[in-house]
Amino acid sequence: MHVLVTGGAGYIGAHTAVELLAAGHQVTIVDNLCNSHAEAIDRIGAISGTTPAFFRMDVRDTPALQAVLQGSGIDAVIHFAGLKAVGESVRLPLAYYDNNVAGSLSLLKAMDAAGVRTFVFSSSATVYGPDAPVPYREDMPLGTASNPYGNSKIMVERMLVDLCRADTRWRAAALRYFNPIGAHPSGLIGEDPQGIPNNLLPFVTQVAIGQREELAIFGGDYETPDGTCIRDYLHVVDLARGHLAALDALTADHDSPAGLRAWNLGTGRGTSVLEIVRTFEAVTGAHVPYRIAPRRDGDLPAFWADPSLAKQELQWRATHTLEDMLRDAWRWQSNNPDGYNSTTHSSH
Ligand code: NAD
Ligand code: WQD
Repeated sequence: MHVLVTGGAGYIGAHTAVELLAAGHQVTIVDNLCNSHAEAIDRIGAISGTTPAFFRMDVRDTPALQAVLQGSGIDAVIHFAGLKAVGESVRLPLAYYDNNVAGSLSLLKAMDAAGVRTFVFSSSATVYGPDAPVPYREDMPLGTASNPYGNSKIMVERMLVDLCRADTRWRAAALRYFNPIGAHPSGLIGEDPQGIPNNLLPFVTQVAIGQREELAIFGGDYETPDGTCIRDYLHVVDLARGHLAALDALTADHDSPAGLRAWNLGTGRGTSVLEIVRTFEAVTGAHVPYRIAPRRDGDLPAFWADPSLAKQELQWRATHTLEDMLRDAWRWQSNNPDGYNSTTHSSH
């Protein structure tokens, strides 16, 4: 297949491009580089032996997208492009609805016009809302998120339900990610946050390498075994492979069910923040000083996936261990102390 990957210079998109190329697919990337570097495209090429076609383009530019899609032989689109910082979305809701909702709408319109109607969307566990019981299952209703980022994901899922209902030629999937961490084992691509990281793992690795003094653990008095929050962390390479499995399921046969299909991509296992810190120290030998800080607004105490639907329908399951995830995150950080701005990129 020829797959258009929007946001393919970003963290999950780059790993997915690598897996697509490894499976023999052709890849074209569209990214406006608002949260990534063109260097990531070269690194995808270094790992894969083939550098994907790349267009620096905003997904809100419908005519430009249409020009990429039209007559290109592109069979399917995986849509990663969007903004993802929860706290920022509270301050800048319009930017989030514009990039994530209007951006997705623009892409779907361009696809429809070009006759490309197979679509995989980067959704999130956040769509279940704060009141859902754990583990999260796909047959639970969409909730209302406590922030614009989460609501933008819910809005796009609703848009896809309506689109698939109106036109049965569409084949679409919403992949609800839990907490992706880790990096490609080559150490060549990984998560490269700009400024102070919001997410746990980049913060941990930046503390371990000495770029930050200590980790603030947000809350030590939750009703969890060690008082810190529990999440379902999964290796980004497993997550990337979930996209190939979803594409296979959408395109396997013409009898595949119409309508938006949703799959959780998680391990089904919960890990606390303290367990992350301790396991990271054990597998890397690096030290991570931390202090218990006040709770972060909007954090849920504990959630994880029921991943059984993906196992049953996609024959997908996460195979990497927590140790693999943390070792690979550390390899990426130590080989690229300044992310893609680092000058050396030898692998261990
Ligand atoms: P990322 O920021 O590394 O990648 C997103 C990419 O999209 C970046 O390269 C950015 O430059 C690009 N982009 C953003 N807006 C764009 C636009 N308007 N036009 C073109 N390109 C644009 O983020 P990621 O972690 O790789 O996340 C990818 C997707 O997965 C996002 O939609 C995110 O919301 C979703 N997701 C991520 C997580 C996570 O924990 N990382 C969890 C659940 C869902
Ligand atoms: C994980 C745990 C923090 C940083 C968010 C989005 C979610 C998804 C993934 C996109 C929490 C704790 C963190 C730190 C800490 N993104 N933590 N100190 O909040 O589960 O999910 O990113 O869809 O939608 O909400 O991930 O990595 O921010 O936090 O103690 O400096 O680590 O409190 O318990 P989260 P995270």
